[in-house]
Amino acid sequence: MGSLQDLSSGPSPSEPVNGGRKYAIPHVPDLDSRRREALKRFRSPLRRLGIFIKRFTPLILVLGLGVLLVLNAAVLNAFLLALNFVWQLAFGILITLVQFVAIFWFMSRSRVERIRPEDPKVITFDNYWGQANLKALVRQWLGLLSDRETFIRMGGRYINGLLLYGEPGTGKTMLAKAMAGEAGVAFISMEGSGFRNMFWGVDTLKMMWFVRKARKMARRYGAAIAYIDEIDAVGASRGGVMGGKGGPGMGGMGGAGMFGMGGSGALTRLLYEMDGLGVRSFTERMRAKAAKLFGRKPPERNWHVLFMGSTNRPDVLDPALVRPGRFDQLIQVNPPDKAGRREIVQGYLATIRHDDSVDVEAIVADTAKSTPAQIMAALTKDAVRIALFDRRSLVTQKDIEQAFLQQWMGIENPIEEMAPDQRRQIAVHEAGHAVAQHYLLPDQRIVHLTIVARAQSLGFMLPLDQVEMYSYPLRRIVADIMVGMAGHVATRIVFGEEWTGAYSDFQQARAHLRHLQSLGFFGPPVMEPGPETAARIEKMLADFWRDLEGRVETLLRAHCGTLIALADSLLKRSSLSQSEVLAILNPAPKAVDEGTGDAVPPVAEAAAGNGHAPACSELELVASA
Ligand SMILES: Nc1ncnc2c1ncn2[C@@H]1O[C@H](COP(=O)(O)OP(=O)(O)OP(=O)(O)O)[C@@H](O)[C@H]1O
Ligand SMILES: [Mg+2]
Repeated sequence: MGSLQDLSSGPSPSEPVNGGRKYAIPHVPDLDSRRREALKRFRSPLRRLGIFIKRFTPLILVLGLGVLLVLNAAVLNAFLLALNFVWQLAFGILITLVQFVAIFWFMSRSRVERIRPEDPKVITFDNYWGQANLKALVRQWLGLLSDRETFIRMGGRYINGLLLYGEPGTGKTMLAKAMAGEAGVAFISMEGSGFRNMFWGVDTLKMMWFVRKARKMARRYGAAIAYIDEIDAVGASRGGVMGGKGGPGMGGMGGAGMFGMGGSGALTRLLYEMDGLGVRSFTERMRAKAAKLFGRKPPERNWHVLFMGSTNRPDVLDPALVRPGRFDQLIQVNPPDKAGRREIVQGYLATIRHDDSVDVEAIVADTAKSTPAQIMAALTKDAVRIALFDRRSLVTQKDIEQAFLQQWMGIENPIEEMAPDQRRQIAVHEAGHAVAQHYLLPDQRIVHLTIVARAQSLGFMLPLDQVEMYSYPLRRIVADIMVGMAGHVATRIVFGEEWTGAYSDFQQARAHLRHLQSLGFFGPPVMEPGPETAARIEKMLADFWRDLEGRVETLLRAHCGTLIALADSLLKRSSLSQSEVLAILNPAPKAVDEGTGDAVPPVAEAAAGNGHAPACSELELVASA
């Protein structure tokens, strides 16, 4: 040790002292002299007496008490009473503790679904129809899950987690189950919200319990898929959905303490578990030690837990959860394309009794963007119910169409004895939509036109795309706005005044207008927001709205006869199918004028040809007369 003197003279450049820094070292007494002093203190007679008393006091007390008990019955009695009290107290505490532990143990157990490879309820890709690309993608990981050796020898690292996201009903949960079945590994699944609990800490226990079960199954079957459904319930960002601060209770939604909703504890534990997947468990460590003792190579782990999760809201998940190393692969599950839908429709049709009227291609064409869950429900639940309550044992195409209509628009809820003028107004409103739709959007077809109330609407016109659209020109949005306007414009030109009932049309048209503006339809969408810009935009949109309304009015006046004919037909029959609507909108070849041999145009066209479109109010609604 260098002295102060040495230090003040400064270190030589080749020998840095104290890491190269210069400072004074405080005086440290010699260690030997300190030890000597301590020994001296220990050997003093007073000290020795103190040690003796300390060591033997309990013995002396017990002996004294024993003598007292033997000599005095009252003391003995009091002693027994005290002993009884202490025993009862200890027993009470023990029972409370046992109850507490039992409650926590019970609460940490959750409802999980377990599917073992030998279970009869195992599903495979044979039951998972459509989604060919998705299956091809996950098949790669499945192949590696059941045969990891070559992959690991090549230096590959198996993924820890696979996250499925997409719209509800696209088949995420079913895919996870089918993956386990296909790979012949175990499957254990738990609902994200199942980890929540009113007591703080129980969510962590539940996650530990879940992972322990998954590991146990993996050890038994070589691999296991640990699936957390609706993982956003447990894995929502700890910083809050919008980046706001959340407490530890609900993962971004606040609520800490003993009675917090307990969400982020489970998340933290999940993060830890996914990180520590490669860490050896206690048993593995013991086995490795035993192997080392006998000079053998520690046994290699031959099982793997693949975490899987699914969510409709990947945007709210904690970034730590979706970083590589945890949920390494994010897979979007979309509604199936046409070929996929065909496979799904055929698959479910094979499970129900139906007649020859059922047209697979028509169903596939009508169900663009439908999810497998919707197709399954319409075919196997609603269509069968409709047929059964109509006293038929076979499902028809009509039942299936009804089933899809119920799904999209709600169940029919006809209003009995509606006043004729109100019924007439609804018919004209819907006919207005249909006429505009027919002329403005020829790439769609009207599959249903009705004035029977369903859910929120008093009537509706349902168009579907002729060809599946994934992108489209902006003019189509303009046409959509005009079709939306056509309902109230028809009412105005037939009845001479506006009616209620166009609220949702307006709402949609407004949304379309804003959409158009954000897509640059009115010029580059680069204006800085501010009161002046907002006023300019509002004026521009209002002018555009008025212009479109004017065009819709011209169109409807030009096809006034068709409009009235359609409204008439609706008043008579309440609902019109695709072919019935088309029969009015595209009438059969025009009648021929006997005198000239020319085709006789419909009334509206004839009037327009004369340069005079008739006011719709001049034409009569026959059915209502
Ligand atoms: N590819 C498919 N083939 C056959 N049936 C399917 C397919 N995908 C989904 N289904 C059907 O749809 C139902 C719902 O699917 P699933 O529960 O997997 O949807 P999900 O995407 O997990 O929905 P959510 O996001 O609401 O949890 C399944 O029970 C099954 O009957
Ligand atoms: Mg699901």
